[in-house]
Amino acid sequence: MAFTPSRLLIFGGTGNIGQYITKAILRAKPAFESVTLFTSQKTVDTKVDLLKGWKAAGLQVTVGDVGNPKDVAEAFRATKADTVVSAVGRGAIDVQVDLITLADQSGTVKWFFPSEYGTDIEHNAKSPNEKPHQKKLAVRKHIRDNIKNLKITYLVTGPYFDMWVNQLGEAEEIGGFNVDKKEAVLIEDGEGKIGFCTMKDVGTSLVAALRHPEVSFGKALKVQSFIVTPNQILAEYEKQTGSKFQVKYTPLDKLRMYETELWDKGAPAATAATLRRIWAEGGTLYEKNDNELIGFDKEAESLETAVRRALHGGKD
Ligand SMILES: NC(=O)c1ccc[n+]([C@@H]2O[C@H](COP(=O)([O-])OP(=O)(O)OC[C@H]3O[C@@H](n4cnc5c(N)ncnc54)[C@H](OP(=O)(O)O)[C@@H]3O)[C@@H](O)[C@H]2O)c1
Repeated sequence: MAFTPSRLLIFGGTGNIGQYITKAILRAKPAFESVTLFTSQKTVDTKVDLLKGWKAAGLQVTVGDVGNPKDVAEAFRATKADTVVSAVGRGAIDVQVDLITLADQSGTVKWFFPSEYGTDIEHNAKSPNEKPHQKKLAVRKHIRDNIKNLKITYLVTGPYFDMWVNQLGEAEEIGGFNVDKKEAVLIEDGEGKIGFCTMKDVGTSLVAALRHPEVSFGKALKVQSFIVTPNQILAEYEKQTGSKFQVKYTPLDKLRMYETELWDKGAPAATAATLRRIWAEGGTLYEKNDNELIGFDKEAESLETAVRRALHGGKD
């Protein structure tokens, strides 16, 4: 009989992107039979209102340490989850090796989404050497080499538009918009197309994938809200604000230079610099994305909506 996910267990579900994923899963119609969040005591203590609202919407919560096999195995046992969605942060990507092994051995979990929600880490010949990809590549290798029972889906979303438009204080040269100052920094000539996902659409497309198990199994699903050039984004900002922006262009070679400097300094912005360089080099452009395959093409947000939200401080 065809598999339909019904008992969901989410890891990292209150994080930057996990929040959008959990929200979309809780709002899905028809609803899933059960949705449980595995979370840390720290999150329970610090995100009280968020969890209270979600519990009222039907979320169950189990508390533990994602790095502790006993806690994780007990969560699989207690929830009888058939589908696991991991959205753990970059600091916990490697923890997933044990998490996925435990899911494989659980006897109940059938489908697992490892934490990806970003760049296609197996895009081209350079991908295996990109520093930010290493831990996610190791997770994929572990799955290929060791995992026997689970179906796996990687949701590949490219950059989150909501984050990409922001400048990083410590590295403005690597790109972004400053609406207060009406300034923008674009890479090269701003004409290189990039496939973006809004953060809301990461949740929407994850639910779309959950609705289409057979075509999602064993795939790195590539989903995109829209594919546009930075100059088109600039034009949309200027249209919606009614103002002309001052634009600085950072040549790709300069971006590569900044990237090396940031890694040499051990600066937190180094990862963002590498990813922005990959995106500017065409790392989000595919012959075809998988929007249609999972029915996400009808739901994806537009550039206009995404810019309006960015101009309203992230609110619709
Ligand atoms: N495409 C893009 O533009 C983009 C941007 C940002 C992130 N991403 C990707 O999205 C995924 C999730 O990232 P995020 O920024 O949403 O994650 P995050 O907010 O940093 O963390 C998500 C959750 O992971 C759990 N966690 C447990 N141990 C952790 C540890 N040692 N370090 C970090 N988190 C830990 C925590 O949940 P509990 O307390 O509930 O255990 C935390 O709330 C990652 O794969 C990341 O690469 C993509």
